[in-house]
Amino acid sequence: MTLSTRTMAFSAMLCLLPGLPQAGSVEVLHYWTSGGEARSVQVLQQAMQEDGHTWDDFVVQGGGGGNAMATLQDRVLRGNPPTAAQIKGLDIQRWARLGFLSNINDLADEQQWDERLPPVVAAAMQYNGDYVAVPVNVHRTNWLWANKRILDSVGVAVPTTWAEFDRAADLIAAAGYRVIAQGHQDWQHATLFETVALSVGGPEFYQAALVEHDFRAMRSDTMDAVFDRYYRLLEHMPLSDDLGEWNQATSLVINGEAAFQFMGDWAKGEFSAEGKVANTDYVCAPVPGTQNQFLFNIDSFAIFDLRGASQADQTAQNDLVRNIMDDSFQRTFNQNKGSIPPRTDMSMSAFDDCARVSMSEFIAAAANDSLLPSIAHGMATTGTVQGYFYEKIGELTVNPISPSESSRELAKAIRYGQYVIK
Ligand code: GAL
Repeated sequence: MTLSTRTMAFSAMLCLLPGLPQAGSVEVLHYWTSGGEARSVQVLQQAMQEDGHTWDDFVVQGGGGGNAMATLQDRVLRGNPPTAAQIKGLDIQRWARLGFLSNINDLADEQQWDERLPPVVAAAMQYNGDYVAVPVNVHRTNWLWANKRILDSVGVAVPTTWAEFDRAADLIAAAGYRVIAQGHQDWQHATLFETVALSVGGPEFYQAALVEHDFRAMRSDTMDAVFDRYYRLLEHMPLSDDLGEWNQATSLVINGEAAFQFMGDWAKGEFSAEGKVANTDYVCAPVPGTQNQFLFNIDSFAIFDLRGASQADQTAQNDLVRNIMDDSFQRTFNQNKGSIPPRTDMSMSAFDDCARVSMSEFIAAAANDSLLPSIAHGMATTGTVQGYFYEKIGELTVNPISPSESSRELAKAIRYGQYVIK
């Protein structure tokens, strides 16, 4: 009897022995490809392999996840859903409403999710009160990343107001450095724009305009002031197609070619992947004017209903969910990814200064009504409205018009996105 037939006979025999762990496989669809992102998802892959399961990595190129969602839709409509997919925010509701997701309340009860997750996170993972997705982390989008050596060499501190930012920008430009590194993609421009809207307008304005899409707020003088500030940033932000991906922009800050990047804290994953240390090589700070305010973006895996799957694959899917909420995974994954754990019972002692600041600002923002859903990352509105928001901000970034015309154009685009049937 050859080795392979003996192994197959042995594993078949194993399956017959109840209670013994069964090796199954999971196929996970995600879009984590940058250095820090890949390092992070490998932590989950390893945890699954340590449980004896096979990890089938279905990775789709393209930061922000637009391509991944199109690929997922195509696969599911062909009746070939993955075990789990990186789906976030309101899109979880959409997939659950269509009946594709699995009720994982048993696992949530087993791991006391209701006691361990902040209400904003628990709610995002549920459909009609049932858990259908598992949270991986909490990202904050309103961060500014700075190269410490450049700041020290021109003698400026990290700006906390736009006036300080303008002064620092002039000194940095005069010293011959690129001031702002920004990848030339609509979702990245939309991410910057939402943080400027929070900074210039404040939490109530952000909520009214970019979450509730209140027409008066979208057409207000405040929105004009947001565009005015946004356009002034463009003066320090050279855009080119050969600087497309967000992590390419982060590399310019890491390498000392650019002073600043405005980006969610997944950028920190790139600094860590390069062995850079917070407050030594680089500095993390809230976008000027957004201290104690937190634009959240929660990564999660939606769990697909595996009708007809083998018991082994069902067990593997359950183990995937269990591993994601496990202490050691939560610690290592979030250290690599640049985010914070979604669990409120995790110690932050093993995390760096930026993560500890993020967790304390997450808690502070929850207490002072400044914990707000990111529109650029699917937490605040439907995928359709988000698409029109991306497109319009992208268009205005390339062809700026007057602030008041810009507000009118953006209001029209969001209104259209609300009512267009897709
Ligand atoms: C976000 C995602 C983050 C990060 C970023 C860049 O949408 O939630 O985890 O990966 O895109 O790709």
